[in-house]
Amino acid sequence: MAAGDPSPPLAAAPPNLRIHPRPCSAVGAVTLLEGDNLPWLRRWPDACFDLIYIDPPFNTGRVQQRMQLRTEQDEAGDRVGFQGKRYRTTVLGVRGYADRFEDYLGFLVPRLEEAHRLLTPEGSLFVHLDYREVHYVKVALDGIFGRENFLNEIIWAYDYGARTRRRWAPKHDSILWYARDPERYCFDYDAIDRIPYLAPSLVGPEKAARGKTPTDTWWHTIVSPGGREKTGYPTQKPLGILERIVRVHSRPGDRVLDFFAGSGSFGEAAARLGRRATLIDSNPEALAVMRRRLARYLAPGSLTAATSQPGPAPGRSARA
Ligand SMILES: C[S@@+](CC[C@H](N)C(=O)[O-])C[C@H]1O[C@@H](n2cnc3c(N)ncnc32)[C@H](O)[C@@H]1O
Repeated sequence: MAAGDPSPPLAAAPPNLRIHPRPCSAVGAVTLLEGDNLPWLRRWPDACFDLIYIDPPFNTGRVQQRMQLRTEQDEAGDRVGFQGKRYRTTVLGVRGYADRFEDYLGFLVPRLEEAHRLLTPEGSLFVHLDYREVHYVKVALDGIFGRENFLNEIIWAYDYGARTRRRWAPKHDSILWYARDPERYCFDYDAIDRIPYLAPSLVGPEKAARGKTPTDTWWHTIVSPGGREKTGYPTQKPLGILERIVRVHSRPGDRVLDFFAGSGSFGEAAARLGRRATLIDSNPEALAVMRRRLARYLAPGSLTAATSQPGPAPGRSARA
């Protein structure tokens, strides 16, 4: 693999593809690819990514949408804000994608098989799911990786939004971690961030000042609706969660992949930490958000490809 190329070599461009082929040598560079991820995954050689994170659509059966609003002060406005001032809201647009599959595992499993093939011997896969799909996908992943390669189910717990009165309000996602080899994987203990003790007075001042390492349950707020991190893309995941995964499960300069990239949260975490990220999404709106969000990491000449109409999946012989 060429040391300066942020993306693994492509065997051949899929049909309808535009490629800007000058490779970018910068560590921390991001490569964006548009289109259905399966044809892309099938084009790459074995063992070319050190870390893969995916956050596939959750199969909620809904269209995932976020409305884009602009608020301006206006005496005749429809909202009243701080100190009684009136504001007018204008709907700028709606971003979204369909989150519905008749056969969810039929869709996901071929992509998970490719992820397994693409991992380096020390590589890991992280699959971000919700409570509706996690059990089915766990069984499928056990079949692909082997049960002994399953290392953790990380629970990302948050505490935001409405609470149903009809059952316990679901306020967590599950992130399944599988290693290519359960004896040889990247887990950089020293890179783990420290969190405060719940009862610091019980552990003494030295330990309390140092904090403790997190367990497999990660408390973290969602992306704040009014915060700077927010892109407006539906289902955007917080950088704090993704930076922890990148920092602990890869090394600077490693090649990392997210093939359901959405707003590019994983790519931003990876680029900030000096990894070489490849991001794929089939939704042109996701690509538009990522181009803006990751502009500073898309150095001139980085390999950037786009296809609005992905061609048929190439056969395995098309790989390099
Ligand atoms: C849950 S979102 C990912 C959100 C992302 N983790 C973030 O933080 O913004 C899932 C994404 O998968 C994309 N997607 C769905 N099917 C795809 C496919 N076959 N190939 C590539 N991307 C796909 C959707 O367009 C959507 O952006």
